Amino acid sequence: MAATDLERLSNVEQKPRSLSLGGHVGFDSLPDQLVSKSVTQGFSFNILCVGETGIGKSTLMNTLFNTTFETEEASHHEESVRLRPQTYDLQESSVQLKLTIVDAVGFGDQINKDERPIVDYIDAQFENYLQEELKIRRSLFDYHDTRIHVCLYFITPTGHSLKSLDLVTMKKLDSKVNIIPIIAKADTISKSELHKFKIKIMGELVSNGVQIYQFPTDDEAVAEINAVMNAHLPFAVVGSTEEVKVGNKLVRARQYPWGVVQVENENHCDFVKLREMLIRVNMEDLREQTHSRHYELYRRCKLEEMGFQDSDGDSQPFSLQETYEAKRKEFLSELQRKEEEMRQMFVNKVKETELELKEKERELHEKFEHLKRVHQEEKRKVEDKRRELEEETNAFNRRKAAVEALQSQALHATSQQPLRKDKDKKKASGWSSIYSVTIP
Ligand code: GTP
Ligand code: MG
Repeated sequence: MAATDLERLSNVEQKPRSLSLGGHVGFDSLPDQLVSKSVTQGFSFNILCVGETGIGKSTLMNTLFNTTFETEEASHHEESVRLRPQTYDLQESSVQLKLTIVDAVGFGDQINKDERPIVDYIDAQFENYLQEELKIRRSLFDYHDTRIHVCLYFITPTGHSLKSLDLVTMKKLDSKVNIIPIIAKADTISKSELHKFKIKIMGELVSNGVQIYQFPTDDEAVAEINAVMNAHLPFAVVGSTEEVKVGNKLVRARQYPWGVVQVENENHCDFVKLREMLIRVNMEDLREQTHSRHYELYRRCKLEEMGFQDSDGDSQPFSLQETYEAKRKEFLSELQRKEEEMRQMFVNKVKETELELKEKERELHEKFEHLKRVHQEEKRKVEDKRRELEEETNAFNRRKAAVEALQSQALHATSQQPLRKDKDKKKASGWSSIYSVTIP
């Protein structure tokens, strides 16, 4: 068969043909099977709360899930931003939800408390998932997925504009997580100011190129509501777990001397809109976007960093085996180069040390020779001195002997004095002349 015939055949094989069934087969239950499997497996949803200390993060979480999560107040004296994840098992009807709330404790409190720990935390969760995926024996089915599905960014209700820290942080996070900006404690800002504040915030986000999460409008069932809600962003929310009697009903509200702010009253704040969008309508989309957009980007960058490519320069399809071999060869040659470099360095070091030692030896030898010369010179001088002293001693002994001889002669003469008195008298002058003789 000619090559062109083969190509035509394979093209024909790629196109599926439509057939009509003679009766009910049963695969129309596939979506139900999927639902049943998902319900059995349970779901996980991870929320990251970013906002300054005391902005109302914990209160809003409690209000959203209508429960009381264990939280502790953050101190204003944290050394740096610390991410505090807490996981809870919740159940509504037969659906199990593993909910993780991550607090960025200490964010925006003081200088040097920037977004880096938050970015690192998000990346670390992606990395954990990637490592699980790359394992030979992976268990993604019961893996606790900790990737952040949504970041609720709490904006301080100043009525002015966004702080530069807010813009920088959101810009750093927008490629890693779905950001939903919310104006916290919206009861502290008047209605007209709030309207202007919302417009200003959106303008600033657009002009700074910050991509916030847009509720999807591609699914017909929710397209309309999502489009309307997109126009309400950022949501202005009020949180409270306190129940106040309004009419004959108990509602969650904040009570002030001048009136009551009802959390679930859409004329008072956007809390209900946030709850609808976050939990009831778009929870699955947030999970999906995290996997297909943010995690995919992380995974792609990470694998490219490791040297993997979909195709090489000549548009050859990607081969894991070849890439691995190429990487291994590259690594081995790099290792060899490093080894050679180290060896050369060692040899040079030994040579240098040898030269240094030789130089030291030469210096020591010279020093020794010099000292030897000095010693010999000193020795010679001492010898001369000794000889001189010896001569002097000899001369002194000679003189001493002469003096002793003269003295003994003199004594001898004195002992014969009475016999030769006259004679002596005559000679007295002679003796004195003898005594005055200088002996050399
Ligand atoms: P840390 O975790 O310590 O950073 O604080 P937080 O952001 O979790 O704030 P938290 O929920 O503990 O609330 C701090 C204070 O703000 C409490 O006194 C709340 O009652 C109050 N608060 C919370 N939400 C609102 C709100 O919507 N409006 C007003 N006016 N006060 C609020
Ligand atoms: Mg808190």
